[in-house]
Amino acid sequence: MTLPIYVYGSPVLRKVARPVEQNEEGLEEFIDNLWDTMYKSDGIGLASPQVGKSVRIFVIDGTPLAEDDPSLKDLKVTFVNPEILERHGDDKTYEEGCLSIPNLREEIVRPEKVRIRYYDRHFNQHEEEYVGIAARIIQHEYDHLQGVLFTDKVAPLKKRMLRNKLNAIAKGKFEVSYKVKVAK
Ligand code: NI
Repeated sequence: MTLPIYVYGSPVLRKVARPVEQNEEGLEEFIDNLWDTMYKSDGIGLASPQVGKSVRIFVIDGTPLAEDDPSLKDLKVTFVNPEILERHGDDKTYEEGCLSIPNLREEIVRPEKVRIRYYDRHFNQHEEEYVGIAARIIQHEYDHLQGVLFTDKVAPLKKRMLRNKLNAIAKGKFEVSYKVKVAK
């Protein structure tokens, strides 16, 4: 089942999400819905707060970008209760977008490597290091669990220029092909 995507201006996007428990009711179905919703909206990553549920889960599928970065060709992962242990390597600039901030893209600087501990959907623990675009997607999605959006990370001058665009998005003045929920 696909869920509507909450857009910029929705309070849930600004909360720190809570961890989930293994036996939580409806967890399996929720994770399935997260995947369905990501695919339906042509995303490469989606975090729970973006569908209005403030829990520490995100999913990523980097395979559409595998032409740019072959390490993405098998990258389909569900991250449950993730914890970024280390961000390191050089700072890199990359143009980001977000399903919750339709039709807006900005160049964002982040470290190129990340080490993360997380559980998969069966609650097996993993610890992995990711580099490049994978590390980029993970940091972006992880930020959603902290109530942080990529537009928070643009330079201050640029932020002023963005304000009108973000206000328009918050009011629903945009068009996308997927289901959304605009804050009232
Ligand atoms: Ni996003």
